[in-house]
Amino acid sequence: MRSKAHLAGQPAPYRIMFVCLGNICRSPAAEGILKAMIQQRDLEGKLAVDSAGTASYHIGKLPDSRMIEAAARRGYLLASKAKAFTKAMISERDIVIAMDRENYSEILRIAGGQQGNVKLLSDFLDASWPRDVPDPYYGGEAGFEYVLDMLEAAGPKILGEPKILGE
Ligand code: 4NP
Repeated sequence: MRSKAHLAGQPAPYRIMFVCLGNICRSPAAEGILKAMIQQRDLEGKLAVDSAGTASYHIGKLPDSRMIEAAARRGYLLASKAKAFTKAMISERDIVIAMDRENYSEILRIAGGQQGNVKLLSDFLDASWPRDVPDPYYGGEAGFEYVLDMLEAAGPKILGEPKILGE
């Protein structure tokens, strides 16, 4: 169990990882948005955020330029480089948040079974939102905007999770 100790200054950041398929659209946007919200709330040092993809075809790449541009219009900097999700990452993160149900199943397959710390992004949203963050890769600009809308709605709920701040 985590305690409140790290709030007193101990170096025990709560580790959050977002996972999608390619790690160039949805999960890097989630990472960039959550990092901005963390900065706005003066929570740096208490949380560590990164992202990965269940597929390896974009490893080392910056996010898709369409997502970089859509995020920049809202003031978010996306600067992560794509990496592939590995089994070890499950135990090295406190929570792993999948963008859609396919990502979720892939995470469990890679991890070798059910893991209590794997969630869906929509677990942090009310039922007016879809279960899956739609993959914008093969669509138009509106798809990227919709992903950002969804992530901006979920961010404060993720940061509001009592265990994330050690409460
Ligand atoms: P992401 O989007 O999973 O949100 O990063 C995709 C990126 C690339 C591909 C599919 C989805 N692709 O097929 O290359």
